Amino acid sequence: MAADWLKDAVFYEIYPQSFRDTNADGIGDFQGIIEKLDYIRSLGCNALWINPCFDSPFKDAGYDVRDYKKAAPRYGTNEDLYRLFEEAHRRGIHVLLDLVPGHTSEEHPWFKASSKAEKNEYSNRYIWTNHWFMGCKDLPYIGGETERPATYILNFFKCQPALNYGFFRREQPWQLPTDHPDCVATREAMEDVMRFWLSHGCDGFRVDMAGSLVKYDDEKKTGTSAVWRKIRQMLDREFPQAALVAEWSDPKVALRCGFDMDFYLNNWGNGYSTLMRDYEDPDKADNSYFRRDAPDRDIRRFLDVYEDWYGDTRELGYISLLTCNHDTVRPRFSLTTDELKLAYAFLFTMPGVPFLYYGDEIGMRYQQLPTKEGGYFRTGSRTPMQWNNGKNLGFSEGDAEKLYLPVDPAADAPTVEAQEGDPDSLLNTVRRLLALRHQQQDLQSDGAYAPVCTEKGRPFVYRRGQLLLAVNPSGDTLTAPVDARGRQALFSIGSGKAGADGLTVGPQSFLVLK
Ligand code: NOJ
Repeated sequence: MAADWLKDAVFYEIYPQSFRDTNADGIGDFQGIIEKLDYIRSLGCNALWINPCFDSPFKDAGYDVRDYKKAAPRYGTNEDLYRLFEEAHRRGIHVLLDLVPGHTSEEHPWFKASSKAEKNEYSNRYIWTNHWFMGCKDLPYIGGETERPATYILNFFKCQPALNYGFFRREQPWQLPTDHPDCVATREAMEDVMRFWLSHGCDGFRVDMAGSLVKYDDEKKTGTSAVWRKIRQMLDREFPQAALVAEWSDPKVALRCGFDMDFYLNNWGNGYSTLMRDYEDPDKADNSYFRRDAPDRDIRRFLDVYEDWYGDTRELGYISLLTCNHDTVRPRFSLTTDELKLAYAFLFTMPGVPFLYYGDEIGMRYQQLPTKEGGYFRTGSRTPMQWNNGKNLGFSEGDAEKLYLPVDPAADAPTVEAQEGDPDSLLNTVRRLLALRHQQQDLQSDGAYAPVCTEKGRPFVYRRGQLLLAVNPSGDTLTAPVDARGRQALFSIGSGKAGADGLTVGPQSFLVLK
């Protein structure tokens, strides 16, 4: 069963490098997050996910951890982070840190010890072959860099050697079974990291590449699931309200092995990208469901996967829908502000626990930028938050050349300040939507969901508990054959009408009826 506080949680994801710099060094910091907690609360978000903020050489933006128990000095000290937990809690905000259990930095002391020729406590902390030149099937590996005469397996980039949780099916003597004491020790080391932060006030973790722990052929993830079950048992005993969200996108598995939430990510072909990012095929027009002019709009491409997952997991935990994250092109890249309003209205009124990526609430644009800290194309979604029209758009008092990444150079770059005063702005629409969600239990994480009219979603009509909702992203007025007589509008974007002939939804409109 998921932690109670998730029933009405709405998350805000912060990429700490780019949120708010308070010491003019050009990079965001913990104090900057603390300063903006009231703003985050004003949005209606009551939970945070902060990307890795631990000591790291930052070859993958901090997903290459050098010391799991030390805050990265560029953001502040451990004490600053503890203060952030406290200040957040005072405002009713829970905080998840980012746990990276599948790999460390190649600069982690465990890896340095593991690379030594002489056998030691850490020799099996990572996955080493027994040959100086040979790898292992299709797992990426590195040779030639260590005193130890063997190659080691990578979990992601070259800087990220894979931690050793064992092999599900063993073919080679160096492939340890998952119950080998050294593989158990890896899990226990990760539990120790979790205990450390939880006992200092953090409320749980977003878990990086949660499905990546046990190596092949763990196709059904039996081995990896067993590791998570053990970890969950520890949490249930010691920190029963701690929450875990998986970066897995396989909720049937993730929610069965102890995760409270799993992200619906844009993995190839799973339907999520058809909502807002269906522009990959150069020979076809953008067919995203929320594009006003989508040539062949069809919400079923998303729902077919979603409803299968939802039906199977609704008693177990939550599927998390997200506006974007630090790995994805911002939705403003292809959607107008009016289109975004409808997309967010949908994402924030579906079951499960939603996630809003910093800056999406004002429609920050994707920037074309050279790669930074292993970001590649992702760099363009990681630029500084745009607070106001002042220096560096209010992100930092430092020199523009020193900034972690440049701010949006456009004269009409959206800012919080500019949108505050406009009741119709994207920012205030997000606030209205989240306020409605908090007011109506039916719209929260556990409220029941049922599709009502899904003929390609033109319009898409769905029920949440006693409420009836409808969204029409097209430029035409559409009527759904749904009897909504006697219902009153609780919330609307655009226009609509419940009549004897059905539910009529105006162009680019969204309705919540009670
Ligand atoms: C997923 C993270 O979201 C991404 O940013 C990172 O590069 C990889 N995992 C490797 O940790």
